[in-house]
Amino acid sequence: MPLTLPCGAVLENRLAKGAMTEGLADVNDNATGRHETLYGRWSDGGAGMLLTGNVMVDRRYLERPGNVVIDANGGHDSLRRWAAAGTRAGNHLWMQISHPGRQCTRMSSSHPVSPSSEKLEGMMGLMAPPRALEVWEIEDVIRRFAHVARTAKETGFTGVQIHSAHGYLASQFLSPRANRRTDEWGGSLRNRARFVLEVYKAVREAVGSDFPVAAKLNSADFQKGGFSKEESVQVARWLAELGLDLIEISGGTYEQLASFGDKGDALEKKAESTRRREAYFLEYARDMRAAIDGMPLMITGGFRTPDLMREVVDSGEVDVIGIARPFCVETDLAKGILGGSSEVLPTPEKSLRLGPGLLGRASSVRTIRTLNGQAEVAWFYRQIIELSEGREPVLSLGAWSAMVGHFAREAGIVRRRRFKAQKPLALASGTESQG
Ligand SMILES: Cc1cc2nc3c(=O)[nH]c(=O)nc-3n(C[C@H](O)[C@H](O)[C@H](O)COP(=O)(O)O)c2cc1C
Repeated sequence: MPLTLPCGAVLENRLAKGAMTEGLADVNDNATGRHETLYGRWSDGGAGMLLTGNVMVDRRYLERPGNVVIDANGGHDSLRRWAAAGTRAGNHLWMQISHPGRQCTRMSSSHPVSPSSEKLEGMMGLMAPPRALEVWEIEDVIRRFAHVARTAKETGFTGVQIHSAHGYLASQFLSPRANRRTDEWGGSLRNRARFVLEVYKAVREAVGSDFPVAAKLNSADFQKGGFSKEESVQVARWLAELGLDLIEISGGTYEQLASFGDKGDALEKKAESTRRREAYFLEYARDMRAAIDGMPLMITGGFRTPDLMREVVDSGEVDVIGIARPFCVETDLAKGILGGSSEVLPTPEKSLRLGPGLLGRASSVRTIRTLNGQAEVAWFYRQIIELSEGREPVLSLGAWSAMVGHFAREAGIVRRRRFKAQKPLALASGTESQG
């Protein structure tokens, strides 16, 4: 069943591949042939829309070594080839635009920035403490989002998504835990939401009224004192009023991996039906739907049974189903769902644990959770690499090998990368910068 977005663009079906960071950029942070192979396979797989992984607005601050960066330094030919491959079956391909803020590994930057200097808890020191952004820097980041959106449109991507979930910079602005500013960018919800609203306005101006602009937003951070469900509904309402084409709901941050279903102790302890246990954020759909008045709603996280997907789309509860991890194992799963031949999607994540014995008795629950989260995500990273090199996924890969291999590979990328952290950089918008 097709979906017409407010801007007039049409998604041919209601299945979308959720964003998954690829880590496949070359030494100059440009897209490569591996992006083409990967997205060509996913395009052939039948989803109406594919989201790219985080594409970064500033090479000084990466979410991960191997991120694609778009600034003044070119790389447009490789973007064009990536977009052509990723849309070859006639589907949409939207670029997810992002700035990590304080969720920036030390490997990429030892001087990250954030709305305030609140440091990330846990994560075993993998991220350095941030410094607070100056106001002129906030304005610069907003211009960078617009520049990346314009470039995405010019190079053949068919939409963009502003990443304002999962604890990255826009989500840090929204969170009262991370944003302790006392100027117009912090404090009240309106002030904390100013960043994402201004980014949306700048992006819309850059791409025009007939190009899809979406946002990924947390339903909540699932942390005490964090961005709440009521606040999330209000921010979605403001974005809908401004003309956003689609809101994707997810949840959590690096501190609390709700996006993978781990809502920890912050989750209201109530009996959940099986369907709501499967799809982590479905319980928020109804309130969201009531608030956003016609703006399409996408929910991502945990969907594994086509019956449930059909049920929530047919009932009008959700417009688009986002699926991420299963696409690393079965690139053409959307065809199976749409054709009725698939009964349940693969769930390799269920058996990916490092094992308490190997982690040692001294490890705290938080450390174990962090390490397990890292191992799980590393397992999927590896499958993405396999797919991007034209091979099949390595299902026999263990959690420890995935994690160790991942860190070794990332260290290699950092060594080879041309841009060395903290070097001054000319800005896309032509404004001044400092290292
Ligand atoms: C390997 C991997 C990379 C991811 N990278 C991103 C990303 O770049 N941007 C994003 O918004 N979410 C990212 N996610 C989260 C997914 O988009 C999605 O929200 C999450 O995996 C839950 O959906 P699922 O249960 O269908 O996998 C990533 C997830 C995985 C497993």
